[in-house]
Amino acid sequence: MTQTQPIAPPRGTEAPRRTGASVEVDHVSRRYGAVTALQDASLRAAPGEMVAVTGHSASGKSTLLNLIGGLDQPSSGSVLIDGTEIWREPDVARHRRELVGFVFQQHFLLADLTARANIEVALIGAGMPRARRRARALELLGEVGLAHRGEHQPGQLSGGERQRVALARALANEPRLLLADEPTGALDTATSQRILDLLGELRARRGMTLIIVSYDEQVGERADRMLTVTDGVLTANQ
Ligand SMILES: Nc1ncnc2c1ncn2[C@@H]1O[C@H](COP(=O)(O)OP(=O)(O)OP(=O)(O)O)[C@@H](O)[C@H]1O
Ligand SMILES: [Mg+2]
Repeated sequence: MTQTQPIAPPRGTEAPRRTGASVEVDHVSRRYGAVTALQDASLRAAPGEMVAVTGHSASGKSTLLNLIGGLDQPSSGSVLIDGTEIWREPDVARHRRELVGFVFQQHFLLADLTARANIEVALIGAGMPRARRRARALELLGEVGLAHRGEHQPGQLSGGERQRVALARALANEPRLLLADEPTGALDTATSQRILDLLGELRARRGMTLIIVSYDEQVGERADRMLTVTDGVLTANQ
């Protein structure tokens, strides 16, 4: 058994640092050649809302998340974040970096870098000097309860710890919209619960909007709203 670390420091009743972004997905389709991964999907999330998206494998969940986060472009329809279409921005990458945090289905940490350095990489684009990047990465590791693992590489961390580093990296640029794709997919129930508690706390503290793809029933129970994707078609659960 590894020692149990508090996942985030205790806190009072701080007001959120900033408000979450609104999300408006309007009749969006995404075709990959002959495959229609998503068909005429519409979804709205109010600032600070938590929306859970579920559905079978290959139903189009990651496609939806990638489109919302501006990692992929719709074949038709539009995605507005705070009323702005990301693909109309002059600098899409910068706009995305300043607004959106991703926790990917595979954690995508760089294997040769330490946990701390993985987070620092996310801060390079923001033009932060090296010493500040380092301090900020350590602060973020503390926020996810991993201050003691900063010098470990991903291969030296447990699955849950890796997922927490990925979460810290996603938070590095203070996103107003956090998109999480199966953040608890590979974890046991207790660890999943801790990650979800952490996400909930971070959402309240930072005022983020959260869209989370998951098969996990715990996620649905915590969400304000739940949606299901079936063969590329998005529907709201009753
Ligand atoms: N870049 C791509 N090129 C071609 N087809 C793709 C691409 N990305 C996704 N697809 C296809 O689109 C469909 C939806 O994929 P998607 O990754 O959105 O599913 P998912 O619901 O996230 O599945 P899982 O739960 O297994 O992660 C699948 O049939 C997939 O093969
Ligand atoms: Mg997926």
